[in-house]
Amino acid sequence: MTSIDIQPLDENLSFGAKVAGVTSDLLKDDAVRAQLNQLFEDRGVVVFKGVEQTPEMQVAISTVFGPLKDHPVPSVERADEDKLLGVIAIAAGPEACVVEIEGKPLVTWQPWHFDHAYNNELNRAGVLRSLIIAKDGGRTAFADGIQIYNDMDPAIRDKAEGLSLLLNLDLRYGRQRFGLPETFRVLREHTSTLSQDNENGRCSVHPALWTRKTGEKVFHMTPYGCRGIVGDRSDAAIERLSEIWDEAMRAIKPYYHEWEQNDMVLWDNWRVLHHATGCNPEEKRIVHRTTIKGDYGLGRWEDEPKVAETA
Ligand SMILES: [Fe+2]
Repeated sequence: MTSIDIQPLDENLSFGAKVAGVTSDLLKDDAVRAQLNQLFEDRGVVVFKGVEQTPEMQVAISTVFGPLKDHPVPSVERADEDKLLGVIAIAAGPEACVVEIEGKPLVTWQPWHFDHAYNNELNRAGVLRSLIIAKDGGRTAFADGIQIYNDMDPAIRDKAEGLSLLLNLDLRYGRQRFGLPETFRVLREHTSTLSQDNENGRCSVHPALWTRKTGEKVFHMTPYGCRGIVGDRSDAAIERLSEIWDEAMRAIKPYYHEWEQNDMVLWDNWRVLHHATGCNPEEKRIVHRTTIKGDYGLGRWEDEPKVAETA
């Protein structure tokens, strides 16, 4: 049986791998499944090249790494017409916000974040495939929380020790309290009521730093939907978060994925931050995502008791 071909994503990055030759038959092989799981643990991001573009294949790749999880937000569009659990569609609908960065209007832009941050549980991973690729923009960026932690100035990084973030979902990016690009402005606000409902609602709590079983410390913050820190939503708390975030953005060494036909991308949601660069609002872009179940055990709801600091 032929096997898969594994290469580093980029020689200059501490994370990421590129895999070619994956077929649905090979995915039934226990040795290949074990090899892919080890690669995922070691490298955090796996780009699959030349894979069959069907929902069945997306689910087959995803379930190598764990069972699928349905999306926690009922209003998010499900793409699984044939009832394959948990395939969601990411596209710019009429309610989508349009932002501007460096004078360029963008849809489907998203700041650096980890998925389900607004939930007490953090899904293990996600798999993306791009059904309609935007010609102008539409890249997906990934960054390694271990690399960010290691490369931050320790004097500033220490301020993130023991910090617990308050997070909930707010698609109105202009209301983000820190971490927006300097030239950012909102051209058209997101119009769903979900964000308004959340504004004074219940938050999830996640640590800004955490330690993997393998010993590495991970920087794991997002300004997306961040309301403050536990017990403190003041401007002073936001200033502290902003200083830490700006240092992380100075240290960050991201990978920008330029989508090609027949790609799928897997990332470790406990370790890797991701960001959508957005695309020209005149263009159509459709991405499907699966969500792989699991939990690192460090999140909780704001009104629930605290859990241990390591997983
Ligand atoms: Fe995301």
